[in-house]
Amino acid sequence: MNIAVIGHGHVGGPLAHHLQRAGHVVTIAARDAASDRVKAALASNPHLLVAAPPEAVARAEVILLATPFAAHEQALSSLTGALKGKVLIDCTNPVGPGLTHGLGSAQSGTEKIQSLLPETRVVKAFSIYGYENFEDASYPGYGVKPVMMLCGNDGTGKAIVAGLAEELGWQPLDVGDAKQALHLEHMTLLWVRMVRVGGHSPHMVWAVLTR
Ligand SMILES: NC(=O)c1ccc[n+]([C@@H]2O[C@H](COP(=O)([O-])OP(=O)(O)OC[C@H]3O[C@@H](n4cnc5c(N)ncnc54)[C@H](OP(=O)(O)O)[C@@H]3O)[C@@H](O)[C@H]2O)c1
Repeated sequence: MNIAVIGHGHVGGPLAHHLQRAGHVVTIAARDAASDRVKAALASNPHLLVAAPPEAVARAEVILLATPFAAHEQALSSLTGALKGKVLIDCTNPVGPGLTHGLGSAQSGTEKIQSLLPETRVVKAFSIYGYENFEDASYPGYGVKPVMMLCGNDGTGKAIVAGLAEELGWQPLDVGDAKQALHLEHMTLLWVRMVRVGGHSPHMVWAVLTR
């Protein structure tokens, strides 16, 4: 699969690397192809490709958005046409002052992005844990895989993203439509408050047990 990554920082960087290692053609959609961050990404994985965002998105089937939430409009503004019909994985989290929801819990960031891109299959995923868990998603010894919850309005898009999550070592769990993203964004705040403030391990993830 051809995958473009917009924002290859703490989250986009390891996901780009592992998706390439899983056999996908991964292009960093770089606003500055000569930046130190791009150079470091290529030094650690020379199989990653780099292109300007319009070109990277044009050739991708799946686009991963991992910019700060506040940057999403700027990052996506020139890409609306190129994103039509494609799957956009929304890894962003709107975070406000004091680790509150950045949109006042009135609407999820994912719904806001979906409303900007009505013809794009927006799927929220890879958002509910810290980046440490995207660097290494293995949790040996438990007998269950860590869960990756995802949501969105498009079933085909969610199935594609669930497949990618599985390839990266997660148990994908479709938790419903885009409205559910608000609750995933609150789960992120729970994780962030527990780990970054409360001192829990950054390698803490959730699992699903069903009977
Ligand atoms: N950090 C975490 O543990 C974590 C976990 C889950 C989800 N998230 C969410 O994932 C997103 C990314 O977080 P991060 O920690 O990976 O951030 P980060 O390390 O600061 O990386 C942000 C990336 O976004 C790019 N970017 C910033 N503004 C942009 C713009 N206007 N247009 C295009 N690209 C832009 C940056 O590009 P340059 O390289 O050109 O500067 C950089 O590659 C955030 O929404 C965050 O809430 C974070």
